[in-house]
Amino acid sequence: MATASSLSRLFLGKNLCGRAATISNTGFVKFYSVAPSYENIKIDVVGAKKNVGLIQLYRPKALNALCKPLFQELGKAVKDFDSDSTIAAIIITGNEKAFAAGADIKEMQNNTYSSNQRQHFLQEWEDISNCGKPIIAAVNGFALGGGCELAMLCDIIYAGEKAKFGQPEINIGTIPGAGGTQRLPRYVGKSKAMEIVLTGNFIDAQEAEKMGLVSRVFPVEKLLEETIKLAERIGTHSPLIVKMAKQSVNQAYETTLRAGLQYEKSMFYGTFATEDRKEGMTAFIEKRPPNFKNE
Ligand code: CAA
Repeated sequence: MATASSLSRLFLGKNLCGRAATISNTGFVKFYSVAPSYENIKIDVVGAKKNVGLIQLYRPKALNALCKPLFQELGKAVKDFDSDSTIAAIIITGNEKAFAAGADIKEMQNNTYSSNQRQHFLQEWEDISNCGKPIIAAVNGFALGGGCELAMLCDIIYAGEKAKFGQPEINIGTIPGAGGTQRLPRYVGKSKAMEIVLTGNFIDAQEAEKMGLVSRVFPVEKLLEETIKLAERIGTHSPLIVKMAKQSVNQAYETTLRAGLQYEKSMFYGTFATEDRKEGMTAFIEKRPPNFKNE
């Protein structure tokens, strides 16, 4: 890792251990210390108001392959940020070469059908989708197999212009096991999803944006900065209402249109039981910024 003085850096804030963390001019997160309990991820709190939880997948030698300990740490970090009332949104990122190159092939090489069943292999991945707060994936480099599936488990995907997405499990004699055959068609439609899953071919960031897999593409070195801006923008709203909006959008992937519309209506009515809804509309009429209280 380069020394602090060798790169022009944008100061981000203090990590959860109270130590400094920065983004370098190449967009890499530079942490000078690691939260002691984590070996496969790094966490930080960033943004001008220190209300964005940042999680960096950190197994650079294995291209952030998603081994079980990494996923256990990731699940814990997401849960901790979710229950921290000072955090408005969470970002998951990797490094310039890889967001994550998939589930750890070395770890699962000797698995059997029965061991997968017994151990509920990959079950903990679903824990991420229980998070009430928005999670944004900031993807530079490879997002393959489980890496692509992890990005799709997030609520929004921003990508660096050199990102590569794919579901190459077919190349190693298996199929996606954490949402690739289910979430990908919902993002990009059947034909494109079939092509990606059946060929194992990679798609680049620009193509992923065109398909609707990724919402925006940025120069590599701008990606994290722009993702933090997005998280901060979300953080200006009522956390309570943000959570309701997220739940409501997610229903669109779980139900029929009719049931989804009913769900949305009841959530919409529900916002009228909150102080923040009242404050939002009152502030609009009084032509002043709202002061949301998460109530
Ligand atoms: N699991 C374990 N280790 C991995 C890995 C993975 N998914 N991907 C990369 N690595 C390791 C490599 O083994 C290598 O380690 P060593 O130096 O110890 O040999 C290191 O990361 C660097 O990788 P490469 O030398 O292969 O790097 P490259 O730049 O030549 O190639 C790549 C990059 C194209 C991403 C290539 O590494 C690759 O194809 N990786 C596997 C991608 C894949 O098949 N992902 C799907 C996994 S299965 C899955 O995810 C199931 C599911 O749905 C949950």
